Amino acid sequence: MLERIERIGKEAAAAIEAATGTTALEELRVYYLGRKAELTTILRGIADLSQEDRGSIGSGANRIRQELEALLERRAAELDAAELETRLAADRIDVTLPGAPVRPAGHLHLITRTTRQIEDVMIGLGYRVVEGPEIEHDYYNFTALNHPPGHPARMLQDTFYVQSHPELLLRTHTSPVQVRAMEVQPPPIFMIVPGKVYRRDSDATHSPMFHQVEGLAIGEGITLADLQGTLEEMLKAIFGEGREARMRPHFFPFTEPSVEFDVSCFQCEGTGVLVGGERCNLCKGIGWIEVGGAGMVDPNVLGFVESNGYDPEQVQGFAFGMGVERIAMLRHGVPDLRRFFDNDVRMLEQFP
Ligand code: DAH
Repeated sequence: MLERIERIGKEAAAAIEAATGTTALEELRVYYLGRKAELTTILRGIADLSQEDRGSIGSGANRIRQELEALLERRAAELDAAELETRLAADRIDVTLPGAPVRPAGHLHLITRTTRQIEDVMIGLGYRVVEGPEIEHDYYNFTALNHPPGHPARMLQDTFYVQSHPELLLRTHTSPVQVRAMEVQPPPIFMIVPGKVYRRDSDATHSPMFHQVEGLAIGEGITLADLQGTLEEMLKAIFGEGREARMRPHFFPFTEPSVEFDVSCFQCEGTGVLVGGERCNLCKGIGWIEVGGAGMVDPNVLGFVESNGYDPEQVQGFAFGMGVERIAMLRHGVPDLRRFFDNDVRMLEQFP
């Protein structure tokens, strides 16, 4: 019997050493030490053995059992470690690596770039960049800009009002920042205001949200001629050297006199005719392209900030405003303004 126990021990030890996986090892444990194992049966039968066999066989079987348990434990640890190692090697994914294929970093939206380009020119001319709220008070958007009650621009079809607060609205232009800025900074003031504006409008050249850049220059002795020179500098920087600015009489409630300003056409060099003799399609043969509105700030507007030093008898100046999308469309030949906001990368990537 003792011999048999020793043989079981040797055989089991060899099998355990040779086991190649944790599953196989578990099967060996059941086979050699499980409830139905030969060694277990022997141990269970010890009580029935004769007095003299009981001691030697009992201690022999127990020793083998303990040795095998220790062996199993050691081998299990070895196999566990090896299996973990293999799994780690197989699953190795470095989440800090860029995806494949590597995506380029991207670039600024054309509207952002156009806005910044205008900012750059104007900063070069000594202007400061100022921003204002997009949810605006009726007072700044209309009243302080000399819009009499009942002015068509106040009507619902043009303006998004805040339903619960009828005195609040989404600003329809960047002009309200003129008065906001003058409230906090005494003259002289030279500033531009880039930003989003909102109108109830949607077609190929209008979007309910678009961007404007506003300009304001107030000081002593500022004239319409200064406006002309400033616009010309700005338009040259945007549309290229050799461009000219032209002002045409117009009406805005907050300027007097008011003008619309044009840039000489950069496609036909202002001639209205293309090289082949065809009529220029960009300026429609006129030689000039409309860019924005401007004028001398109405004394009534200054009256709202007179207490901060804007006495219309002492200071005067000009303001102008223009749409950023329109400028970007003209410069880059984009036929539909809404494409800027579809977020289709194929469209946006064309303007790196
Ligand atoms: N706010 C006007 C608009 O959105 C544009 C404009 C016209 C701005 C004349 C001005 C200005 O500052 O003087 O249509």
